[in-house]
Amino acid sequence: MANAIKTYTSPSKEFTQRLGEVLAKRFVPGDVVLLKGDLGAGKTTFTGGVAKGLGIEESVISPTFNIMKCYFNGRIPLYHIDAYRLEGQPIEIGLDEYIEGDGVCLIEWPMYIEKLLPDEYLEISITHQGDNHRQLVLKGVGERFEMMVSSLEEVQE
Ligand SMILES: Nc1ncnc2c1ncn2[C@@H]1O[C@H](COP(=O)(O)OP(=O)(O)OP(=O)(O)O)[C@@H](O)[C@H]1O
Ligand SMILES: [Mg+2]
Repeated sequence: MANAIKTYTSPSKEFTQRLGEVLAKRFVPGDVVLLKGDLGAGKTTFTGGVAKGLGIEESVISPTFNIMKCYFNGRIPLYHIDAYRLEGQPIEIGLDEYIEGDGVCLIEWPMYIEKLLPDEYLEISITHQGDNHRQLVLKGVGERFEMMVSSLEEVQE
C-alpha cells in the first residue's frame, strides 16, 4: 500500500486553512476526520478551511460550549464536534447519528468519544513548533483514507 502518512509544516494559520480547503474537495458524506493536538494547536482553524472549501459562508467558531455545530449551506453538510467537555461523561447523546452520517464529520478531542469512532477515518495530529509554526501529520486509516493521503498534492499557501 502507498504511504498513508504525510507530514506538512505549516508556517501560518493561512497555510493550515489552505490544507483544509484542499482536503474539503475530496470529502464525501460519511467521511470522518479526527483532529488531535493540544489546546490552541489549530484544529478549529483547520476546520474553518474545510468549511471554506465546501463553500460554507459563515465562519467556523469553536463549538466548545455546544459540543457540535452543523453547517448546511455547503456542497455537503459539515458536522463539527468538539468533545473536549465530554471527558468522563456518558456519551449516549445522539452524536452517532452525525458520525458517518450524511455529511463530513470533523471531531476535535476524539479520544473522549472513543466508543463512537468508526474503524476508518482520516487522522490529523497537529503540534506546536514555536511561534506560528505547526506540524500536521495526516494519517489515513482504511483503504479510502489511505488513498486520500497518499494521493494528496503539495499545498501552497
Ligand atoms: N500555523 C498555524 N496553524 C493554525 N493555527 C495557527 C497557526 N499559527 C498560529 N495559529 C493560531 O493558533 C490558534 C489556533 O486556535 P484553534 O482554535 O484553531 O485551536 P484548537 O486546536 O481548535 O484549540 P482547542 O483545543 O482549544 O479547541 C489560532 O489563534 C490561530 O490563529
Ligand atoms: Mg478548537
